[in-house]
Amino acid sequence: MKLISLDLAGLFTKGTGLSLNEFDEAGPRMRDLQREVTEVDERLYASGEIPPEKQPLDHGFYRLPERILEDYRRHRDNSELGRVLRVAHRLHESVDRVVVLGIGGSYMGARALMEACCQPYYNELSRADRGGKPRLYFEGNNVDNDAARGLLHMLNVGRKPQSIDDRWGLIVISKSGGTLETAVALRIFLKAFEQTMGAEAIPQFVIPVTGSTGKLANLSEALGCETRLSVPDGVGGRFSVFSSVGLLPAAVLGLNVISLLEGAIAMNDHFRQQPPGANLVLDYVNACQLAERHGYHIRVLSVWAKALESVGLWYDQLLAESLGKQELGATPLTTVNTRDLHSRQQQHQEGRRDKLFTNLIVDSWRTDPLHVGSSPNNQDALNDLADKTLADIMNAAIRGTNEALQSAGRPTMDLHLPAVDEATLGQLLQMFMLATVVEGRMLGINPYGQPGVEGYKQNMNRLLGRTGG
Ligand code: PA5
Repeated sequence: MKLISLDLAGLFTKGTGLSLNEFDEAGPRMRDLQREVTEVDERLYASGEIPPEKQPLDHGFYRLPERILEDYRRHRDNSELGRVLRVAHRLHESVDRVVVLGIGGSYMGARALMEACCQPYYNELSRADRGGKPRLYFEGNNVDNDAARGLLHMLNVGRKPQSIDDRWGLIVISKSGGTLETAVALRIFLKAFEQTMGAEAIPQFVIPVTGSTGKLANLSEALGCETRLSVPDGVGGRFSVFSSVGLLPAAVLGLNVISLLEGAIAMNDHFRQQPPGANLVLDYVNACQLAERHGYHIRVLSVWAKALESVGLWYDQLLAESLGKQELGATPLTTVNTRDLHSRQQQHQEGRRDKLFTNLIVDSWRTDPLHVGSSPNNQDALNDLADKTLADIMNAAIRGTNEALQSAGRPTMDLHLPAVDEATLGQLLQMFMLATVVEGRMLGINPYGQPGVEGYKQNMNRLLGRTGG
């Protein structure tokens, strides 16, 4: 499998204030952190005896891809992934739309996978062009009246299905089972489901993904849901993309979930085996921390493909919720280029010197190259570019932007993706999760848990006149 690669040259250009010496000097520290995450945290987590200063230790994400695949290879239909594939198959055969309810870590990974790996206009395609797979919609990620109504309208609520085109299923994902946005959406969409598909369809076509206990687990029991998928203990929401949280929506879309997991495993192997200087995770963290020490506190992820915007938003959440603690942690910002060159680049080029730019670059596109082509109507003066492709123009934009930033002493680095597919996405998401944990350990911040999110929830409940949870 071809691995992602990292080019750090743009960090050390004149005027950035960053030096290769300082980067290299951090090598031994990076090696310690590698050991801490792969051995110490791993051992503590496995022992179940976690000292108070390490809690919570949601380290279960680390070996999750290996565990899920191993379980599948041994137990096939009786494994978690076996159940995921069975439910996905049931939905493929019976419905044309699936609504996924969830928020934060229970939503962003699935969305990132869909946008990255599916055709850009997937939901608009005919059923045949979707390979017989359902359209997928996300809700429960807000309490936006018009958005929810818009989706309900499309589902023809209240009208009896005439064919598979009118039939839909509901996946509800919540680890805690108590998140208000998702719970409220479930109540509304469940009623709509009953009015359309009928109460008798609930057990087969309403699929909860949740922890072993909690309100959603209880409700699923009461509803008689035939398959309940699990979010494993010790795997935090934003680290759960390789559990059923991300795997079920991916399988519903017909994505290759085995490749996805194999990609993540390849990244784990790489992370464990490679020394600092040749280790993607450690080098990325070292570069980010070096930049932060020199005042570059805003971490811009410049994605050079529209399909990767939601991957950027997923990383925004991972970084912000994991490391935005103790008045520390870089501020993440995703930009999609070349689009945002026409909105943000002025500031990036000449604004405050507080930004580190990581380019996420796609090395090979999925589809045949589109040429500019020549035209007898050369009033647009493009005939000189007739032989160029969109990929050529994109490459020139990437190089041109990097050169401009570097000439102004702005630090950049490039993460190259060999392709945008399941295997690469598996690597990339696991790389970012590992990097976030390593970086947390480096800063002395526990990357797990999100105590700061409780404040708004308590206030919202109080303002809604609620006393209990
Ligand atoms: O990363 C996290 O833990 C959070 O973003 C959660 O995923 C989010 O709050 C949703 O929680 P739950 O899955 O319990 O509904």
